[in-house]
Amino acid sequence: MSVQKEIKKVTTNTLQKMKAAGEKISMITAYDFSFARIFDSAGIDIILVGDSASNVMAGHETTLPITLDQMIYHAQSVVRGIDRCLVVVDMPFGSYQSNSDIALASAIRIMKETGGHSIKLEGGAEAIDSIKKIVSAGIPVMGHLGLTPQSIYKFGTYTVRAKEFDEAEKLKQDALLLQEAGAFAIVLEKIPAALAKTVSESLHIPTIGIGAGGDCDGQVLVMHDLLGINTEFKPRFLRQYLNMHEQVSTAVTQYISDVKARDFPNAQEQY
Ligand code: KIV
Repeated sequence: MSVQKEIKKVTTNTLQKMKAAGEKISMITAYDFSFARIFDSAGIDIILVGDSASNVMAGHETTLPITLDQMIYHAQSVVRGIDRCLVVVDMPFGSYQSNSDIALASAIRIMKETGGHSIKLEGGAEAIDSIKKIVSAGIPVMGHLGLTPQSIYKFGTYTVRAKEFDEAEKLKQDALLLQEAGAFAIVLEKIPAALAKTVSESLHIPTIGIGAGGDCDGQVLVMHDLLGINTEFKPRFLRQYLNMHEQVSTAVTQYISDVKARDFPNAQEQY
């Protein structure tokens, strides 16, 4: 039987075993109770309460504006919807970059106030002190390398990262540093597939890819992209499993028309 099917609750230990057994890990973002409940009962391994909430829930252009309080609200809602999967909560921009004491205090707030099981933060060497401190406090940390959206104004663009030798070498070293610091997994975002394969093979902790090819130990997608709620965002790495925008729009158009035509509610739909 697969590791994933044997267990009642997914833990960081389960993910380690899945990597060792060559079983792929599935991860999706969620920001509220109702979708978390659907994804958990569908059998997802990890729900990421991503700071992409800033884009897809709040309509901001970047992930920078979302606050720690807002992330905590989303994470609390998600945790109420799940039974089985592991919940990872993104640490928002500004909640960990200044120093490792602030990082630890923010991570503790997330764990205490949300009931989530772990946190994720972006960065390599520059985040190591914070990661060590958070891990020492008993909080599981997921790393995030490659395209790190909180640094968008440093990069200037959302294109593929680490195509050049120096950046690829730094990413490989950063991945090893994160593993040594105690991270339990690393998201690799928008990097060449060959580099993601090398990094994944060099680590004993799992890598979770987004736009990083099929050799990562797992995959993550933003729920709005996977379900086709967004129509504007169509990067090459995305597989859209539903056209929810069209389906919801058709349903609501029909509802409007039924209300206007006095067709809804009918005799059976009233008291
Ligand atoms: O915030 C997010 O949704 C993420 C994923 C893109 C990995 O960090």
